[in-house]
Amino acid sequence: MIDHLTLARAEWDGYAAVYDDDPDHGLRDPEVRGAWRTLLLQHLPPPPAAVADLGCGSGSLSVLLAEQGYDVHGLDLSDRMLDVARAKAEDAGVDIAFSQGDASEPGLETGAFDVVLCRHVLWALPDPSRALARWVDLLRPGGRLVLVEGSWSTGAGLPARRTADLVREHRDEATVRHLPEREYWGRQIDDDRYLVVSTY
Ligand SMILES: C[S@@+](CC[C@H](N)C(=O)[O-])C[C@H]1O[C@@H](n2cnc3c(N)ncnc32)[C@H](O)[C@@H]1O
Repeated sequence: MIDHLTLARAEWDGYAAVYDDDPDHGLRDPEVRGAWRTLLLQHLPPPPAAVADLGCGSGSLSVLLAEQGYDVHGLDLSDRMLDVARAKAEDAGVDIAFSQGDASEPGLETGAFDVVLCRHVLWALPDPSRALARWVDLLRPGGRLVLVEGSWSTGAGLPARRTADLVREHRDEATVRHLPEREYWGRQIDDDRYLVVSTY
């Protein structure tokens, strides 16, 4: 019997070569790239804060933040996605620690990060609440969770209120900011995509 991690890994390995073709994935369009840069800088502590980018995929957000002076560790299940991420970091001339692993049990150093960043991964984990408990453990005192999720027109994803409630199982506070603006996605969207930030 094939376990869910092996299946997910194979699926994402197969997607790696074309993943960045979507504007919000590759961040190749300067307007989209600039929108994500501005958004993240509004919600992150100043560089050189330490950021764990869990499910970093092709590394677009990791590289964006490393270019701003953040100390980034990107973790992903898929070796092929990590290959893309490492090549992107090298092209950009930034130094990022990448490792292969399961975001549900990241195995990174406890209490070592100012930010746990995760975009479009939490919803797909088998036990999001348990994963969030692990992520909170990664944070230094005063550290924050920065999550980008969605409730997509395909039916996949997590409603914003559900994500905030999951975070509040482990934290005192979680704030939702909806992201309907096309500048983040490179096109008009008709579903709910959002940011959840928890600072304490
Ligand atoms: C939709 S992509 C998001 C990538 C990146 N965060 C971004 O915003 O572009 C989902 C990523 O999560 C990774 N992933 C899926 N399940 C995972 C798990 N259990 N642990 C770590 N990474 C996982 C996949 O390999 C893929 O790279």
